[in-house]
Amino acid sequence: MGGGAAVIATARLLADGVCNAWLVDVWTASAQRRRGIGSAVVRRLLEKVPGHHVALFTEERTNFYARLGFAEERTGMSLVVGNWLNRPD
Ligand SMILES: CC(C)(COP(=O)(O)OP(=O)(O)OC[C@H]1O[C@@H](n2cnc3c(N)ncnc32)[C@H](O)[C@@H]1OP(=O)(O)O)[C@@H](O)C(=O)NCCC(=O)NCCS
Repeated sequence: MGGGAAVIATARLLADGVCNAWLVDVWTASAQRRRGIGSAVVRRLLEKVPGHHVALFTEERTNFYARLGFAEERTGMSLVVGNWLNRPD
């Protein structure tokens, strides 16, 4: 990294400022995992959106989100435009 700062974790919260938010791009660098960094980043984002319903989609890592207080919902709709990740059939 040439002596510069290295990114060790990311997360984005897209919020309308009223009631709806979406959590995406949650990632911790492999060498830094299981140190509480991902949880800390998500908690800091959640503090910014009191009163919001925060949604996310994940195929795995449900345990990570459950520990942060997320629970599965049976309502919701989604659509994949074409093929997921543009993968061939
Ligand atoms: C998921 C991810 C962001 C977790 O980041 P992290 O900084 O390691 O998370 P934390 O250290 O805060 O983990 C908190 C808790 O979540 C759970 N957890 C985290 N990673 C886990 C794993 N690989 N398997 C099972 N549980 C896990 C554990 O309960 C953990 O607590 P513990 O270490 O005391 O057991 C990280 O593994 C990652 O970047 N994975 C690849 C990208 C990804 O899957 N992102 C989510 C897609 S929606």
